[in-house]
Amino acid sequence: MTEPQVVRDSAPKQPLVVMEGVNKHFGALHVLKDINLTVGKGEVVILIGPSGSGKSTLCRTINRLETYESGSITIDGQKLPEEGKALADLRADVGMVFQSFNLFAHKTILENVTLGPIKVRKMNKADADKRAMELLERVGIAHQAAKYPAQLSGGQQQRVAIARSLAMDPKVMLFDEPTSALDPEMINEVLDVMVELANSGMTMVVVTHEMGFARKVADRVVFLADGQIVEMATPEEFFTNPKSDRAKDFLGKILTH
Ligand SMILES: Nc1ncnc2c1ncn2[C@@H]1O[C@H](COP(=O)(O)OP(=O)(O)OP(=O)(O)O)[C@@H](O)[C@H]1O
Ligand SMILES: [Mg+2]
Repeated sequence: MTEPQVVRDSAPKQPLVVMEGVNKHFGALHVLKDINLTVGKGEVVILIGPSGSGKSTLCRTINRLETYESGSITIDGQKLPEEGKALADLRADVGMVFQSFNLFAHKTILENVTLGPIKVRKMNKADADKRAMELLERVGIAHQAAKYPAQLSGGQQQRVAIARSLAMDPKVMLFDEPTSALDPEMINEVLDVMVELANSGMTMVVVTHEMGFARKVADRVVFLADGQIVEMATPEEFFTNPKSDRAKDFLGKILTH
């Protein structure tokens, strides 16, 4: 596979995900502090920060895997629903890929990808199969469609997890350290799929420690520390000229490793 090139425009974007004054506690712990973040349509935002700074929690509030106490989150102008069918629809609009792939072990790769479209989007099986095969082709796994997850490598399973999310036609994709559980030689195959996705215009929020990837695809880097957005800048600005001591300290630690 040749390395995909980044060819996206950087024109001002229409807002897609808007977080305003979002606060969240876990008991006494204030994990998200007055978060204001707008992600534009087609924009790629990389979330970075020290362990425990709230990156996963921030992602999880966007598809309401976590509740929050104050502030608001809208997706494409719609407030996050609390429950029921509206919430299921929202979850379908917001794809999420985690560190662990959580594929259904007893279903084939193809069935893993068609399950959501058939159950949630009410697509018929033939259409769902066709679309799933296109997506598996896109992530380079089409020839493994009849296999079970355990028969695939970690990198392949993660690419299936991405195809599974894409099958729901999400408006935005959230990635929480999608390559952290992978053996080093499998990281690039997953990042390549994500670069291609970014180039295709997908709106993405990505938590990652892959700084090369961040520099390459991010429109913006958001640096979180202690539940607060401390810096927001282009990757060029952020990596060459971080403003805060916390960001300097963080970059010093990760870049020297
Ligand atoms: N379910 C939970 N109950 C209680 N505390 C939690 C829960 N989930 C996260 N926390 C705490 O909230 C804070 C933020 O956690 P979060 O997982 O969002 O951080 P993170 O930036 O993703 O960290 P990492 O880089 O280690 O993944 C941490 O102090 C964590 O211990
Ligand atoms: Mg995390």
